[in-house]
Amino acid sequence: MLRKALERVLELPAVYDLNQLIGQPTVRRYTQLIAEEVPLTAETSVLDLGCGTGATRQIIPGRYCGIDINPDYIAAAKRIRSGGEFIAMDATKLTFPDASFDQVISVATTHHLDGGQLQAMALEALRVVRAGGAFHIIDAILPVNPRDRAKEMFFRMDRGRFPRKLEDLVAVVSGVAGVARTRVLNGPMHDVAYVKVVRAGAIA
Ligand SMILES: C[S@@+](CC[C@H](N)C(=O)[O-])C[C@H]1O[C@@H](n2cnc3c(N)ncnc32)[C@H](O)[C@@H]1O
Repeated sequence: MLRKALERVLELPAVYDLNQLIGQPTVRRYTQLIAEEVPLTAETSVLDLGCGTGATRQIIPGRYCGIDINPDYIAAAKRIRSGGEFIAMDATKLTFPDASFDQVISVATTHHLDGGQLQAMALEALRVVRAGGAFHIIDAILPVNPRDRAKEMFFRMDRGRFPRKLEDLVAVVSGVAGVARTRVLNGPMHDVAYVKVVRAGAIA
């Protein structure tokens, strides 16, 4: 019951943003992985799945579209972010036509999705990304070192009900798509993973 009440409070956009501020060490690693792994220029169009209140918009130089299932976050993103498009939408049922974006990203969202939803999101991301692009997953994972009990406990208290080890994240995605590259940045609050997802069969 306490967990449910806490989750309802965290749904409020302002409380959510405060939570993001406290999680700065983790957010910095998300930002580093986007900068180093996602090919971005001022001409690149990016779709962000599970964009929350649009924090990632600030580090995308080109055309940005963020979608989130929570309409309150989308309303807040429209109010506080400059530029970009924000739409309330389910990442597992995108309404965009095929091949609409150069790159698709998802930050800190896979641990909110069960296996079926994660696979549906990956398939939708690969449907709407243009040839040559990829679906870039960046998310916290359960600690690589199993002795990091405090870090594991911290992540298990998250609102997201589906915290995964890197290998479990890769196994779920690999059920429907190809995984071309993975990388992990270790840190004080969370270990953060990068997973590059491509069409099944696209890996030589
Ligand atoms: C921890 S937040 C991350 C938000 C943002 N990417 C960031 O880094 O600030 C996870 C987000 O996933 C969204 N979400 C959960 N399930 C979703 C779904 N099926 N489709 C779209 N968004 C979803 C939640 O509403 C929430 O905003």
